[in-house]
Amino acid sequence: MEHEIADPVGTGPGRVLITGAGGQLGAALAEVFPRADALTRDLYDITTSTIDFSPGLVLHAAAWTAVDDAEGHPVQAELVNVQGTRNVVALGVPVVYYSTDYVFDGSKAEPYVESDEPRPLSVYGRTKVGGEREVRDGWIVRSSWLFGWTSKNFVRTMLELGARQDEVAVVDDQRGSPTFVGHLAEATKDVLELPQGTYHVAAAGDCTWAEFAEAIFEEAGLDCRVRRITTSELGRPAPRPANSVLRSERGAPILPHWREGLRACLTRL
Ligand SMILES: NC(=O)c1ccc[n+]([C@@H]2O[C@H](COP(=O)([O-])OP(=O)(O)OC[C@H]3O[C@@H](n4cnc5c(N)ncnc54)[C@H](OP(=O)(O)O)[C@@H]3O)[C@@H](O)[C@H]2O)c1
Repeated sequence: MEHEIADPVGTGPGRVLITGAGGQLGAALAEVFPRADALTRDLYDITTSTIDFSPGLVLHAAAWTAVDDAEGHPVQAELVNVQGTRNVVALGVPVVYYSTDYVFDGSKAEPYVESDEPRPLSVYGRTKVGGEREVRDGWIVRSSWLFGWTSKNFVRTMLELGARQDEVAVVDDQRGSPTFVGHLAEATKDVLELPQGTYHVAAAGDCTWAEFAEAIFEEAGLDCRVRRITTSELGRPAPRPANSVLRSERGAPILPHWREGLRACLTRL
């Protein structure tokens, strides 16, 4: 049973392997690439497993994504994000490696473009940069503030809190572009048409987490107030960039506005 990569993608024939298919992006990729081998961690652990077929392309969505936990578990985070990526690269085929806005320190006043130098603040960000450096043959797709209809994410958390509380406290001094995984998965097809390299692929528009929470409550019809707080008031273990809006100077696919992504996500929840 062959899973051919569509010809327009231009990467030659072969099966498409999706890593981390149990995650929010992995689930979206499995919908956009329905003939792919979408493997959850129990079927393909990138730190320990081998696979018994040769893919033609890997969409590598598996990662240690627990940003705060990584601060206390740097070795484990590095094992998944760096060594795990090295193992995926060792399959010897082109890889799409999904990376993050958290590779930047947030000190820039303008949106970050691909030529900006990564300066991660957190263990998670450092291990994602380490993973980027493993990729020789393929595409590095940096995106930001992902949300979808599966797994743990900000939208699902806010919907839960908003249904049972009158007010939630949300950080208002970090700015980014919340990106719907369905839009990022769809855009991956367009990335595959571009020359290999690093691309910033995030939703159009930007907001703070507090503004995002307000939009979630508004779109979902929940009567919940947002109390705006600072990052230091929240006191999370991992430092995060104050500004991590991503834009492309390399002709990366343009995604819909984050609010459109939010509406699309809510129809799936
Ligand atoms: N979430 C964001 O805001 C964000 C922003 C920018 C970029 N990204 C990047 O986008 C990609 C996808 O993120 P996501 O939000 O979809 O993350 P996610 O929902 O946490 O999914 C990650 C998946 O990777 C799996 N995984 C962890 N360790 C693994 C291992 N050793 N072998 C195989 N699978 C393993 C996880 O399985 P378990 O659940 O069993 O651990 C999970 O299913 C990641 O590379 C991430 O760094 C994420």
